[in-house]
Amino acid sequence: MIPFNKPYMTGKELFYIAEAHFNGMLAGDGAFTKRCHEWLEAYTGTNKALLTHSCTAALEMAAMLLDIQPGDEIIMPSYTFASTANAFILRGGVPIFVDIREDTLNLDETLIEEAIGPQTRAIFPVHYAGVGCEMDEIIRLAKKHDLLIVEDAAQGVNAYYRGRALGSMGQLGTYSFHETKNYICGEGGALCVNDSALLGRAHILRDKGTNRQDFLRGRVSKYEWVDIGSSYIPSELVSAFLLGQLEEMDRISSKRRAIYQYYFAQLENLEESGLIRRPFIPEHCTTNFHLFYVLFESEAVRDSVRGSLTQAGIHAISHFEPLHESPMGRDVGSNNQPLPVTESLARRLLRLPLFFNTSEEQQAGVVDGINRALKGFWNRSTVSIPNSMDRSNTQ
Ligand SMILES: Cc1ncc(COP(=O)(O)O)c(C=O)c1O
Repeated sequence: MIPFNKPYMTGKELFYIAEAHFNGMLAGDGAFTKRCHEWLEAYTGTNKALLTHSCTAALEMAAMLLDIQPGDEIIMPSYTFASTANAFILRGGVPIFVDIREDTLNLDETLIEEAIGPQTRAIFPVHYAGVGCEMDEIIRLAKKHDLLIVEDAAQGVNAYYRGRALGSMGQLGTYSFHETKNYICGEGGALCVNDSALLGRAHILRDKGTNRQDFLRGRVSKYEWVDIGSSYIPSELVSAFLLGQLEEMDRISSKRRAIYQYYFAQLENLEESGLIRRPFIPEHCTTNFHLFYVLFESEAVRDSVRGSLTQAGIHAISHFEPLHESPMGRDVGSNNQPLPVTESLARRLLRLPLFFNTSEEQQAGVVDGINRALKGFWNRSTVSIPNSMDRSNTQ
């Protein structure tokens, strides 16, 4: 069996958990949480990183911080995870789904302006596969229309757009440390508060709507309920685990890069034959090699390949089911227009196993499995490659 994912533990996590045990301080925002915050701030350049229980929790905090009111519209891709939309729907917001780019599968910045209306409050770029959205243009549009930006960088920890960390460019950015991501703590996330004007309230929302942070810093004499909020601070045990991962980020990254590059090189001939399309990373983006996908000519070919791989014991999966076509999305999306690129790509995409300990034998097995599965399709299918894809930069 070649699993799709297998969480990698560096070995440091248990030592740090033991240290937290020894310290005897288990609730959140202790020494380990602070070390993770400092680490993320130094690495990403964000003004302030705040650990949360999950990226979902960070997104919920973002919706509160933006003060989303019923009827406010948020522009986002439909090709994303449910949490991107749920966070705003919980506050009465309305997702406006916009199509994605064919090359990177990221929000198509050229379609954003026509989706902006009087109720629009924010743009929500999702950096798919740890490859940056076209942030220069998104920031320009946000400024022009007085909108806020929240980057869903769940998959984008340790990835860059024109040298800037994903998650550090909007007013807010969110990260995930779920066990399927590159750097993990089981369930975990972070909110990057890039706009310092939002920081005071971020502390309050994260700490159950209380002014405890101000109290601990001696700024107020009483610890009181002052706003809405929830319990978003992870315990020291979780933060200790995460620090054991963050400190090994470069090592984890280079191993993932090697696996990604192996797939990329080994599948080149299939792309040249028009049977598949491999992922695309624009030259100005540095990815974290979060995932490797293959696009086939049709859903039928994709499903047939997936079936063959499953029979060979290889677990490859489709990815996001477009939100606008899902039961909840059909109810809550206000602009239920067809999104042709999203619909086509989501049905044709297959994610390959990619985890730290994917052995060389397993990698070769995956490539061999795809080649075998496609045997019957030679000369029968052609996958189109968008003009914007320049293969000279493969990272
Ligand atoms: C784009 C995106 N946003 C949000 C999330 C939610 O992350 P978490 O599981 O940390 O809540 C995910 C999870 O895969 C995701 O891919």
